[in-house]
Amino acid sequence: MPKVVVLGSINVDYVAPVARLPGPGETIKTDRYDTLPGGKGANQALAAARNRAETAMVGAVGADGLDAIALRELRLAGVGLEAVQVQGGASGLAMIAVDAQGENQIVVVAGANAHAKADHLPPLNPAAVLVTQNEIAWPQTARAHHLGRQAGATVIHNAAPAHRLTAAELANIDVLVVNEHELCLAADNDRASTDEKAVGLLALGVGAVILTLGAKGARLFESGVAPIHVDAVPTQVLDTTGAGDAFVGAFAAALAAGLDRAEAVALANAYAARVCGVMGAQTALPPVD
Ligand code: RIB
Repeated sequence: MPKVVVLGSINVDYVAPVARLPGPGETIKTDRYDTLPGGKGANQALAAARNRAETAMVGAVGADGLDAIALRELRLAGVGLEAVQVQGGASGLAMIAVDAQGENQIVVVAGANAHAKADHLPPLNPAAVLVTQNEIAWPQTARAHHLGRQAGATVIHNAAPAHRLTAAELANIDVLVVNEHELCLAADNDRASTDEKAVGLLALGVGAVILTLGAKGARLFESGVAPIHVDAVPTQVLDTTGAGDAFVGAFAAALAAGLDRAEAVALANAYAARVCGVMGAQTALPPVD
């Protein structure tokens, strides 16, 4: 059985470099775009596989020709695709503008991702690491967390795109991975500091919170111990798209290999830095040495 199982989105990314990101109502011109495999779920599965974890992907693509692009890198990396459903409609798409500083704006069209189902998960066991994000229907993700909890698997949820989580939902998550924006929405406490927000989520029942901070590194929060801060690895930034996904996939692979959470955060932090110097989400994911 694969050690890392990812339930989530599989997209084709249309990536356009722009001098600066457009404001509301504004049109920006550019002279090219690339068509690349993406989707937060697929990116995380590929990152786990590139970090030497036996990995399976669970999700859905459309029978529209784009499915071949969407699954290309996963297939080449040996990710198990038996639980990827092929639907009649369109594959999931993302329109991504990347500015000269490597920052992006992303619009996602769900397409076949709306048909991704928790019932297509392989049987899980206590050695499995289940990874989810928020680009498929939330009830399916919540059901996967319930199944993961029942099986004794480690459940990692990346709350991206940002969404609010109830105490009951948090209680089925072992490790919640968020950036600052996602933490603010998940925590529902405007007055608290960032650290207080993360600690507040621990009090509501999540096992651990990892806050990714881009150029400021990452922080790990666990009950009863001081937060652990890991500095970012200095890197040349060309495109930050998928850096968070690289972090999550590498972290999951490290847990599956038996590392503890702090060791896994350090490894994931270093891996995520490596992807920022290359355009694209999956095309930037290197195999580990
Ligand atoms: O996190 C980056 C990903 O977000 C892109 O690959 C795009 O498909 C969107 O899902």
